[in-house]
Amino acid sequence: MKQKIENLRLETEAAIAGAESGRALYEAKMKFQASLKEVMSGMKDLAKEERPAFGKIVNEFKQTMESAFEERAIVVRQKEMEEKYRSEQIDVTMPGKRVVSGALHPITVVKNELIDVFAGMGFKVFEGPEIETDYYNFTALNTPKDHPARDMQDTFYLAENLLLRTQTSAGQVRVMESGKPPIKILSPGRVFRSDDDATHSPMFHQMEGLVVDKGITLCDLQGMLAEFARKMFTSSTKVRLRPSYFPFTEPSVEVDLSCSECGGKGCRLCKGTGWIEVLGAGMVNRRVLENCGVDPDVYTGFAFGMGIERIAMLKYGVNNIKTLFENDVRFLKQFKD
Ligand code: DAH
Repeated sequence: MKQKIENLRLETEAAIAGAESGRALYEAKMKFQASLKEVMSGMKDLAKEERPAFGKIVNEFKQTMESAFEERAIVVRQKEMEEKYRSEQIDVTMPGKRVVSGALHPITVVKNELIDVFAGMGFKVFEGPEIETDYYNFTALNTPKDHPARDMQDTFYLAENLLLRTQTSAGQVRVMESGKPPIKILSPGRVFRSDDDATHSPMFHQMEGLVVDKGITLCDLQGMLAEFARKMFTSSTKVRLRPSYFPFTEPSVEVDLSCSECGGKGCRLCKGTGWIEVLGAGMVNRRVLENCGVDPDVYTGFAFGMGIERIAMLKYGVNNIKTLFENDVRFLKQFKD
């Protein structure tokens, strides 16, 4: 019996010393416990009086071995931790991988700025559909079929009465039809015309404005445009109204801003005039108010419409509209804050 215990001690001590991982140590312990159980089962073959002494020996042996396991476990755990730290070590001084972040497109930047400027004056945003009926895009805006003003805009028709809107003005009608004055809306969006050169693109963006209430006059329009010019360009930018014609406004005006490049002295950008044309506007034609169910003897209003690309081109000195649609990263990068 004693020999058996001695053998088990030698064998287990060797196993403990050789265990390099928690797993190996655990397996050695399982094996030891099984062997010990076997040794203890031999106790029944001993004489009765020998048993207590032998039991004591076995108990002591068991305790000694258990503390040997415990001690080894501390060492192995420490070793494993060190190994883990070593393998997971990182060099915090190493330069990181650069993440290239994107930026808003200049059209979006200008659109957001415009919304910001007009929201400050109490305008709410309304977005109409890009596919419109002939009625909303033209007829309700006092431009019935065969009206010569239809030639001002080369239209993409999808069906006889369905088209890609040529102007965000179409939204004016939808707004007036669905709500009562006072109305103060801003309507940004894509518009489409069969037009293509350095300053025109078949798809471009417009920003429409509409104000309808009692007692609105051309002075209100002028004051609001002055504020827009100062905020969007420089605090010294001036506004000039010239008579013009649009079927949906009466009177109609073309709005010029003093040239931001030369300050009004005359340069290449303003073709020597000191002024740059930026938008169309006017007092809403009473016929349009009538078409939308608004009483023109009670209410008056003004409207304006501008090309967002045109504003962006003026603001950033871009001379070909195509560069705004090509999405060449070298061009777009220049607009990153
Ligand atoms: N819709 C016109 C265009 O596309 C621009 C315009 C002119 C809009 C006068 C208006 C306006 O609201 O009053 O050329």
